[in-house]
Amino acid sequence: MTAITCIEDLRQLARRKVPRAFFDYVEAGSYAQQTLRANRVDLERIKLRQRVLVDVDNRDLGTTIAGEKVPLPIALGPVAMIGLEHGNGEILACRAAQAAGIPFTLSTMSICSIEDVAGAVEKPFWFQLYVMRDRGFVRSLIERAIAAKCSALVLTVDLQVLGQRHCDVRNGLAVPPSLKFGNLVNMATKPAWVLSVLRGKRWTFGNLAGHVKGMEGVTSLAQWTATQFDPTLNWKDVDWVRSIWPGKLIIKGILDVEDARLAANSGATALVVSNHGGRQLDGASSSISALPRIADAVGSDIEVLFDGGIRSGQDVVRALALGARACMIGRSFAYGLGAMGQAGVTAAIDIIRQELDVTMALTGTRRVIDIDRRVLVDDGR
Ligand code: FNR
Ligand code: LAC
Repeated sequence: MTAITCIEDLRQLARRKVPRAFFDYVEAGSYAQQTLRANRVDLERIKLRQRVLVDVDNRDLGTTIAGEKVPLPIALGPVAMIGLEHGNGEILACRAAQAAGIPFTLSTMSICSIEDVAGAVEKPFWFQLYVMRDRGFVRSLIERAIAAKCSALVLTVDLQVLGQRHCDVRNGLAVPPSLKFGNLVNMATKPAWVLSVLRGKRWTFGNLAGHVKGMEGVTSLAQWTATQFDPTLNWKDVDWVRSIWPGKLIIKGILDVEDARLAANSGATALVVSNHGGRQLDGASSSISALPRIADAVGSDIEVLFDGGIRSGQDVVRALALGARACMIGRSFAYGLGAMGQAGVTAAIDIIRQELDVTMALTGTRRVIDIDRRVLVDDGR
């Protein structure tokens, strides 16, 4: 087994172990993938400032996220269908996050349900909500998150319509989905994956199954969900969600200063500067290029979180330097899950932790909470 030294190693191992259709689903950006690429290119353009002869012993990587004390400025973001990267994927990823002391966010579009995860872990997790046309169903989802003692609700606001990922269409994972025969043949070449998924609790959207009668398979529910995502979604719906959900609310998918101001005025606890990992509006700016203007505009009114392209501890330092309190990671942990299950998610978290620690030392920074633009040579703008 080759040594796992970085997130790219986990990605390569996941590529070998996960059937192509589900690996492609994680990799994909929408349309020409310009924004997907920009998320990485713009992060790498930001240069870090090497400092020397500074006492950097006893480094402290801890901070708070939405009022929760955490040992690292990262959280696992919502990633749909990770139960198809590895059997019981949502449970395994949540366990790895909780072992590391960081938040895990369960997607509405998960394979393991809220109740499956709550019944399998010790501590509260975050629930990510899509507001669909069927408001009665959405209300029941929020009530289930309350019953499961979820500690924050992440309201995703950048997916009223689904951005097309061409590979999903080719693989039959789009809507209406129809897993092509070629995928089934490819799956047969991944015995460990087949075994893990067969041993898993489910093969369908655990939170949605049973709501739609007679459409239990992922393929049919994906179709139902695509027709269910609601283009009428507006800020009044945020007030409606807040009238049901009593706890911390995090608004995810903000890329514009005006929307950030609206989020800050909505009473939300935090916002996530995000372009959905380049999977929605193709041609949108990278998350990292949007971050500084949003942090400058609303950073004193609402906690600013970040996601989009984080593949290393160096990237985390870049985002914190430009105003983020902490980062959500998506693909980085999804690769770990596909590569090695729970151990792979733990490996992803540990890799980013070690890279963050060394980067802080070499920029002369002892505490995460001290990271600001002084650690940058050039903020890439
Ligand atoms: C996502 N993302 C996402 N976001 C969300 O709010 N609900 C969801 O169900 C999903 N599903 C999902 C599936 C897959 C396969 C990916 C890659 C992403 C977006 C995710 O939370 C996050 O915004 C991006 O993944 C961040 O970019 P990186 O870290 O993947 O580069
Ligand atoms: C995605 C949706 C489900 O990015 O969030 O695939």
